[in-house]
Amino acid sequence: MRKLYGLSIIFALLLVVSACSSDSSSEKKDDGDEAEDSTATGEVEIFSWWTGAGEEDGLLALIDLFEEQHDDIKVENAAVAGGAGTNAKAVLATRMQGNDPPSTFQVHGGEELNKSWVAADKMEPLNDLYEENGWMDKFPEDLIDLVSMDDQIYSVPVDIHRGNVMFYNKEVFEENDIEIPKTFDEFFEAADKLQDAGITPISLGDKESWTATMIFENVLLGVLGPDDYNKLFADEIEFDDERVIEAAEKFNKMLDYIDDDHASRNWQDAARLVADGDAAMINMGDWAKGYFSNDLDLETNEDFGYFTTPETEGDFTIITDTFGLPKGVENPDEVKEFLTFLGSTEAQDVFNPLKGSIPARVDADESEYDEYGTDTMADFKDSKLVPSLAHGSAASEGFLTKANQAVNIFVTQRDVDNLISALKNAAPEM
Ligand code: GAL
Repeated sequence: MRKLYGLSIIFALLLVVSACSSDSSSEKKDDGDEAEDSTATGEVEIFSWWTGAGEEDGLLALIDLFEEQHDDIKVENAAVAGGAGTNAKAVLATRMQGNDPPSTFQVHGGEELNKSWVAADKMEPLNDLYEENGWMDKFPEDLIDLVSMDDQIYSVPVDIHRGNVMFYNKEVFEENDIEIPKTFDEFFEAADKLQDAGITPISLGDKESWTATMIFENVLLGVLGPDDYNKLFADEIEFDDERVIEAAEKFNKMLDYIDDDHASRNWQDAARLVADGDAAMINMGDWAKGYFSNDLDLETNEDFGYFTTPETEGDFTIITDTFGLPKGVENPDEVKEFLTFLGSTEAQDVFNPLKGSIPARVDADESEYDEYGTDTMADFKDSKLVPSLAHGSAASEGFLTKANQAVNIFVTQRDVDNLISALKNAAPEM
């Protein structure tokens, strides 16, 4: 008995020694950098704001597929409710500051990733992962740029959402003989006609103010055009430029056509008004398409249609959800395995048809997508891309918070001068 006990201790010690030596060899990086310590914990935590209708279907499908393929790693879904990360971003900031990062978290490519996390030295570069997986030509170059800083790539995009899209109720448009408007004049004419017929032309659910900020950013894009829109957020055009004022006036006019209870609705409630024919159209990112198709069972181009927001044809307001590797996680190797999965065509083609987005990869299987998806993929290839302000890509979180506040006040006060001066005052924080 005693001898057996002794032998088993020696055996256990041998196991530990061999596990340590094989770990350290597998962790050695090609570039000779110090290896990170990676403990296998058998669990990765994915942090996002994808809960509830129209948001979580894609995420849950991803988790299921990953767990099906990896018996040894469980995925903990740490989603925090609230559209556009209204609550999640604050929870994330607290965790990051407290050195308690999730294994990976939803972050928009562009300033949100770069200014909030990369510049603060909170993220690991993922160039090795891109190289190992042969991803350098599998994601569009512009997209890789959005998730890079100083030649280092910091996250893996899972989707591309479009922001400058209006979804409309087909029956309402047909019954009222409304043509798809392209210009602002046509848009306001259509809105007048609908209003005269007793229908709410535009549905807005700005219980969370980012939805109104989206309308404003797309009006800005329509008035300024993509080049000057980009210059505005690069601080090369001032917020009191006469075209920004013109955009604020047009945004103001749009607010003449919104639903009465907009401030008590979230984006799903507002999209629902359009689905039910109680409002004619909504400017919402195409996660609304996921909501229409998967949660409300509506048919694309039968029950609802879509068009680009006025005067933005040929432009694409891009919103990309990405996931990276925070510094200090216990099990970076397992997290990288999860990120490798998120970047695979298989994962992207499971996620995006449910989410309403198009795949971030260029080589996805188009047959998995309906007409909205294939139209959007084609548009994406031919369009000028601009980053969304409301979704964190165009400017820092500090500026966005102030812009959302200013827009929120504007929706009630409708004071163009106040909006312009609030944005101008916030500009140094961009
Ligand atoms: C965006 C995000 C989308 C969607 C939307 C509504 O910020 O990129 O994936 O979740 O918010 O919550």
